[in-house]
Amino acid sequence: MKFVMTQAVCPEGMKLLEGISDIYVTDGQDPNGYLEQMQDADALIVRIAKCDGNVIRNSPDLKVIGRTGVGYDSVDVQTATEYGIPVVITPGANNRSVAEHAVAMMFALSKNIYEAQKELCAGNWEIRGAEKSFELLGKKVGFIGLGAIGREALHICRGIGMKIAGYDPYLGKDSIEAMGAEYYEDYKTMLEECDVISVHVPLVPETRNMITVKELKLMKKTALLINCSRGGIINEKDLAEALCKGVIAGAGLDVFEEEPPAEGHPLLHAKNVILSPHSAAQTREAVIHMATMCVEGCLAVISGKKWPYVANPEVYNHKKWRKSGGIDI
Ligand SMILES: NC(=O)c1ccc[n+]([C@@H]2O[C@H](COP(=O)([O-])OP(=O)(O)OC[C@H]3O[C@@H](n4cnc5c(N)ncnc54)[C@H](O)[C@@H]3O)[C@@H](O)[C@H]2O)c1
Repeated sequence: MKFVMTQAVCPEGMKLLEGISDIYVTDGQDPNGYLEQMQDADALIVRIAKCDGNVIRNSPDLKVIGRTGVGYDSVDVQTATEYGIPVVITPGANNRSVAEHAVAMMFALSKNIYEAQKELCAGNWEIRGAEKSFELLGKKVGFIGLGAIGREALHICRGIGMKIAGYDPYLGKDSIEAMGAEYYEDYKTMLEECDVISVHVPLVPETRNMITVKELKLMKKTALLINCSRGGIINEKDLAEALCKGVIAGAGLDVFEEEPPAEGHPLLHAKNVILSPHSAAQTREAVIHMATMCVEGCLAVISGKKWPYVANPEVYNHKKWRKSGGIDI
């Protein structure tokens, strides 16, 4: 058996292949750079590198493609499906890490930790009297998007005594209320009434620019805005301006429209903002969970099992799978 990886997965993931598979780790991210190695490869695991149609068409033994994470826009899933190749993904592996990251940003902002440290190191002890800190207890947090990550963050926030609100047009009032959240039919009203807003929706045409200057102006002057989902949902230029003018009190962002953000990007110099480099899911636990889940899924597919966590479940209707029968797990 042979696995090609565009980047080595963590040691725990590599260990699962010890003694059962040859492994070739490519040096670069360019698909053409590892095409030769794909001639006898059974599996390809990609992280951020592209897996295009050309690679799939020119890999005669390829049985499975693995992607550590949930997003799979870097993989030509359509061509993989045409060739009967499941694209294994790892849903749920990083929910807790991303949810904790969002809540960590709420804590850091509500205690003014970043500015306090920066000023302290610059000799300004008087920053302790900045009067920007507040407790989260009893404050209302509104979740835009209550899928896997939003729900996980909701549980943490409830545990620290926050009031919970939620907007998700694909979930009914009953299911949002069953989570212990106040239901909002319209997110603009929720923006007006919350002390903290945390965004957990995918970037799709209807969520692009969901929060622009117009929506920011609806928020309380004391409110915090967190985005650990995708760049492009909050208009970055509008947010930078709103932060500098004190339209809202602070923002925490893990994701950007263009990553990494270009030098001189207005958010890099905005006031009351904390930023991280799309690292919410890069915890020790999530990295191990993603790698092991991905390798286990690839091994299951190679052994003929219909692994359920794939980006293209319709692949199991392909004649290759119908012919082999495949084993459901
Ligand atoms: N920062 C990171 O490292 C990181 C890691 C993992 C996931 N993410 C991102 O976090 C986001 C959420 O992930 P998830 O696993 O919770 O996804 P999910 O699919 O489980 O949940 C998304 C939720 O958003 C809801 N939704 C869709 N359109 C909406 C809209 N217009 N308004 C309100 N709600 C809407 C859906 O109904 C769903 O409940 C995704 O964009 C994902 O890419 C980021």
